[in-house]
Amino acid sequence: MRSVISTLVLAALAAATPKPHCFPYGTATLPKDLSKPHVPLKDWWCPQSMAYGFQGFSYPMEYYDCSAPQNGFEYMRDDFARMKRDFGASIVRMYYPVCTNESVFENAIRAGVANDMAVIFQVWTNFGDGNEEWQQSQQAIYNVLSSETFGPLAPYVVHSADFGSEPVGDGMDGGGDQFLTDLGQFRAVMNAHGIHAGISEDWDRPGIMSGDHGVGLGPIGARVRANSDHCHAHIMPYYLSSNPTVAQAWPYIRQQIAWLARNVQLPTMITETQWAWAPHPYHGGATDVGLAQYTEYWKKFDEECKFFKLNNVGWFLHTWLGEATFDMVYDNGSYVIPHWRPRKC
Ligand SMILES: *[C@@H]1O[C@H](CO)[C@@H](O)[C@H](O)[C@H]1NC(C)=O
Ligand SMILES: *[C@@H]1O[C@H](CO)[C@@H](O)[C@H](O)[C@H]1NC(C)=O
Repeated sequence: MRSVISTLVLAALAAATPKPHCFPYGTATLPKDLSKPHVPLKDWWCPQSMAYGFQGFSYPMEYYDCSAPQNGFEYMRDDFARMKRDFGASIVRMYYPVCTNESVFENAIRAGVANDMAVIFQVWTNFGDGNEEWQQSQQAIYNVLSSETFGPLAPYVVHSADFGSEPVGDGMDGGGDQFLTDLGQFRAVMNAHGIHAGISEDWDRPGIMSGDHGVGLGPIGARVRANSDHCHAHIMPYYLSSNPTVAQAWPYIRQQIAWLARNVQLPTMITETQWAWAPHPYHGGATDVGLAQYTEYWKKFDEECKFFKLNNVGWFLHTWLGEATFDMVYDNGSYVIPHWRPRKC
């Protein structure tokens, strides 16, 4: 009797707040034969108002050999499944896909389909060294979008595409006039396929992304904004000073979110933010690091879910596996913060 009543109560609650039929936060699912859904693209994606709080992970893909298992479908499918099952992730942010073949983007789409998750495409910057790699990476994305198999489906899986991760910071494509022109062209091609485009970047670069002393937009930032559909921001208190403390982090994050809302005014997600669970030569000389600090840092994001909802800002955990002591996954596969599923408020 009790279980009948509780079943009825649960059913009534579920009926009162039905999950909308949309992707990737709602109930919409992708056909598993790689055909495109029978839904117009404009009715497919969940509304911007649902895009807040935990989105998923940055997924390092730093394997130059395109035939490495990590660039393969099965590997991604299984990782994406764990992100969704254990953390409730809905989007995977491809991070540094250094293989510049179509296959890596095709496999990410297939892994997204297998798990009903979205992916963010990223052009590989090669850290600003030369034009060959980013052009190959961009061409690989273009080829996937115009391919017979993946082209029609891609706009239903690819949430958005970034013309590099910190391309301004790394001086990709010169980082100036030519870069801005090419960002505009990249966006035009993405938009022609119905995909939003921009860059993934730190706006706290006074005189460049932000204005002098951080007031208003800087000369590059203003033109990035004019050539973007979204703001994928890196808000990284970890790099604020040579010895950052976790206590300084949240006031800075709040202040940066307010700055972006005032100055950039585009749909915003924090695509990169991080803390280390142990010192590591990759991550500078910070001493306020450890399991306790790492856990405190990420749980604070989750506790602030209502703040993210109010500000309509999403965030990604940086990273899954591949960035040393920033990772959530140990080499042996277990999690740095076990049994933790960010709540969705
Ligand atoms: C590159 O991608 C194409 C198309 O997916 C595939 O046929 C080819 O085998 C790939 N080459 C490498 C080196 O992975
Ligand atoms: C995995 O590795 C981490 C870090 O070395 C360790 O703390 C943890 O106990 C290991 N877990 C398992 C299941 O071996």
